[in-house]
Amino acid sequence: KKKIAVMTSGGDSPGMNAAVRAVVRTGIHYGCDMFAVYEGYEGLLKGGEYLKQMAWEDVRGWLSEGGTLIGTARSMEFKKREGRKKAAGNLIEQGIDALVVCGGDGSLTGADLFRHEWPSLVEDLVKDGRFTEAQVAPYKNLTIVGLVGSIDNDMSGTDSTIGAYSALERICEMVDYIDATAKSHSRAFVVEVMGRHCGWLALMAGIATGADYIFIPERAVPAGKWQEELKDVCQRHRNKGRRNNTVIVAEGALDDELNPITAEHVKDVLIDLGLDTKVTILGHVQRGGTAVAHDRWLATLQGVDAVKAVLENTPETPSPLIGILENKIIRMPLVESVKLTKQVADAIEHKDFDRAISLRDTEFIELYENFLST
Ligand code: F6P
Repeated sequence: KKKIAVMTSGGDSPGMNAAVRAVVRTGIHYGCDMFAVYEGYEGLLKGGEYLKQMAWEDVRGWLSEGGTLIGTARSMEFKKREGRKKAAGNLIEQGIDALVVCGGDGSLTGADLFRHEWPSLVEDLVKDGRFTEAQVAPYKNLTIVGLVGSIDNDMSGTDSTIGAYSALERICEMVDYIDATAKSHSRAFVVEVMGRHCGWLALMAGIATGADYIFIPERAVPAGKWQEELKDVCQRHRNKGRRNNTVIVAEGALDDELNPITAEHVKDVLIDLGLDTKVTILGHVQRGGTAVAHDRWLATLQGVDAVKAVLENTPETPSPLIGILENKIIRMPLVESVKLTKQVADAIEHKDFDRAISLRDTEFIELYENFLST
């Protein structure tokens, strides 16, 4: 009987529970024994009770639960080969050789490396005397399937990551609240949103709330000049009768000299314009709470396909990543998506912002620029 484990890793995201539920139930449907790894890679390193067999009813009601009920962690030990060897031993002990990992690009890169090293890790475990040749014989390969769980929507090759639309919804709701009080006092608000090196949350929230201005890492503003442009835009909107201003700053925002642009910098500029300005850093409210419908169905459809991908996998197939492209659930080589994702960060680091934007979703940027010029 095939034994498959599912785990969540890295920062939690709304919809991860729906993904785990779908993987567990689909696996059971296909006659597999299903396990959940508790506490992310830390749980793999600890083994034993951290690898818990899951029954159909164990995931009942999980669709509407926020966070990840099986826990997550950012493990330093798993980054070392010794740690991964321990994890391999714990999986073999339970008879598991297939892992569905729901996490961000860091977690998925770790998973792919684990699969790559697996044969040599198993050899070492035999050399160490933990297992005999006969015991490891059925576990020559590890199957890894990735699901992208992240609020950042930063993975190339997939239109949306599990959790991104929930976080976006939360941000919009919060900005609406802020707008109400801002209008009352005729104030300006600078709202900092998450997203790490990706501006998707800031960009989409800016469009959806009609913000005056946004700062994102991929569209770096000219160093020393952005202040005047920001003032011009906000003043123009005031002249048209707007009673408040909203500026959304992605936490990874930069100018074209790679200087970070923080909410405090932006606040100082708006104060200089004579606006009564406040800062709100939304923080982890963006990540918490229940998943919106989009993330629930995305996680469910992708979770179903993850199990199918495990069952269809051969040692020759590269680890697949389950994504969504133009409304279709797709599979692509995990390493390819991770490589493409890294290219955006590299382009930003080399101040090649046109390339960074072109690797993201250009149409949205264009749409936003048109919107800004009105
Ligand atoms: O990757 C998800 C994310 O929420 C980022 O947007 C943010 O930069 C980071 O995780 C925060 O991590 P932590 O919860 O460990 O502070």
